[in-house]
Formats: sequence, C-alpha cells, structure tokens
Amino acid sequence: MHYPEDVKRAAAAATERLGPLPAGAVGLVAGTGLGGIAGKLEHCRDMATGDIPGFPAATAPGHAGRLVYGTMGTACPPGDPQGSIEETMPAAGAGPDGSSRPVALLSGRLHLYEGHSPRDVAFGVRLLAALGVRQLILTNAAGALDPHFTAGGLMRVTDHLNLTGRNPLVGPNDDALGPRFPDMSRAYSPRLGAVADACALSLGLRLERGVYAGVLGPSLETPAETRMLRLLGADAVGMSTVTEVIAARHLGMEVLAVSCLTNVNLPDCMAETTLEAVLATAKRAEGDLARLLAAVIPAV
Ligand code: 6GU
Repeated sequence: MHYPEDVKRAAAAATERLGPLPAGAVGLVAGTGLGGIAGKLEHCRDMATGDIPGFPAATAPGHAGRLVYGTMGTACPPGDPQGSIEETMPAAGAGPDGSSRPVALLSGRLHLYEGHSPRDVAFGVRLLAALGVRQLILTNAAGALDPHFTAGGLMRVTDHLNLTGRNPLVGPNDDALGPRFPDMSRAYSPRLGAVADACALSLGLRLERGVYAGVLGPSLETPAETRMLRLLGADAVGMSTVTEVIAARHLGMEVLAVSCLTNVNLPDCMAETTLEAVLATAKRAEGDLARLLAAVIPAV
C-alpha cells in the first residue's frame, strides 16, 4: 500500500524509536478523559506524538499525545520495560494461554473543534494503518440521547451520523490507499461488535448499542438540537470518532467504537453540562471500559 510521504515518514520515525510493531497488533484510540486505559496496557514502550515528524500538535493543554506499544490480555514478561522489543512484545497469541495481543495506543486525540483539519484528525489512524494495524478500537466520551441510557454507562457504536460537515477524504483520492467512494454500509464491524457484546455479557457489564452523532462542537447542544438529533435517529452525541472511522474504512480497517456516556441529554429537562462533570463521569466509567477492552482485545 502506498502512503502519503508524511505518514510514511511518521511511521518510520515511530519504528525507529519503538521498534517494529508486532504483526496482529490492535490499534486503540483513547477519547476524552479515557487516557487512563494506558494504565491497563502492559506498558512496554512509548513516545510523545510531538516527537513524530508531521504528527499534528495537540492544542488542548495537558493533553500531550502519546503513542504507546504494549500488550493486553497477559502481562509483559518481567525485566527491563525498555528492553528489546522482541523480549517485551510477544506476537499475537504468543502468551501462555494464547490470549496476549499487541496493542498500539494513541492517547490525546485531535478534534475538529480545536481547529485541526479533517486530514490532521485522521493522521493518527493512517499512521496506525501504516504501522500494520488492521483492527481499530476507538473510544470516546459522549452525551446520551436515548432516555433509557444512564450517565456512566457504555454504548457500542453500531452506526453513525457524520454531522460535522467535514470529511477527511475530500480532495484527490489515492487509489492505492482506498477507493474514491468507500462503502459505509458496515462501517462498524458486526464481527468485532459481536465479540464486544459477548465479552460484556461474560463480564456482567451492560453494553448499550446505538447510533453516534458526530458534531463539530465545541459548543454543546441546545435543547432544540438534542431534540433534532433524537429525531434523526441518534442515541448519543459527541465531537469525535466519525472522521477517524471514515479514514479507517477507506483503508479497509475493521472498526469497533465504544462511547462512554458522560451525561444524559433530554431536551425537555436538560441539565447543564460542564467539562468537569464529563471528565468525572468518564473517570468513573473508565474502569468498566478498561475491563471490557482487556477482554475484547485478545478475543478479536
Ligand atoms: Cl452532551 N454533546 C457533545 N456534542 N459532546 C459530548 C457531550 C454532549 N457529552 C460528552 N461529549
């Protein structure tokens, strides 16, 4: 596959610094307030995305982006955590029970509302693909629109509404990367979704399913807008994910997305939403999300 020069250069820099990403690695993008998932990773090696040439700089203060290589499912072998990549990064299925899985995690994602272009927002996903990732798991913080959902719950995204008015594929298409008009009829992999549902069931975790409306932000919705989104068929609303999913599907990656429902938006009794409340709820749900991912990743 041919990549734009900037993605190729970024992948070469990551490989030089972190070593080759083992085959079969799962890509993980951590959403707002969900960066603590990195703590669940058997943390082997990481670097600042700021040290990756061409990686768009994160603008949100205190959101230094990191690219982390690790494993999920079983512990990294003891020893020097920055030792040789072959020692610390078993290949897929190489754990004692065959359940370990290499992971490339991007924490500190970029959002359109920060002023990044859709192309910049998609850069991390294209980098993961260039590093060999074929399966991508995206997490985000979202407001619930379905009145049956509760704050602190988790929702598997089954489909989306791209209401950002933007698309990372605008411009000339590189046919070597993917098609001009990528199919989006199964953007969210039914196979990965079924694995997530089964893992949630066996963990005793409630995992809602629903449609994610991706909006530009940064202002939150008015009551009229939440009513409109519900009428349009959305079950949750947030300011990320759809741009990355479009780029990932263009590249033919399999996608799973899980929203952490940080607040419930009911148009006729809307409570005020603050960043502090969103972050606090994301923190509460992060444990459940991490348990789910720790089960899903070795199983996909
Ligand atoms: Cl209520 N709206 C949007 N657009 N994004 C959110 C959210 C709400 N809650 C968390 N992220």
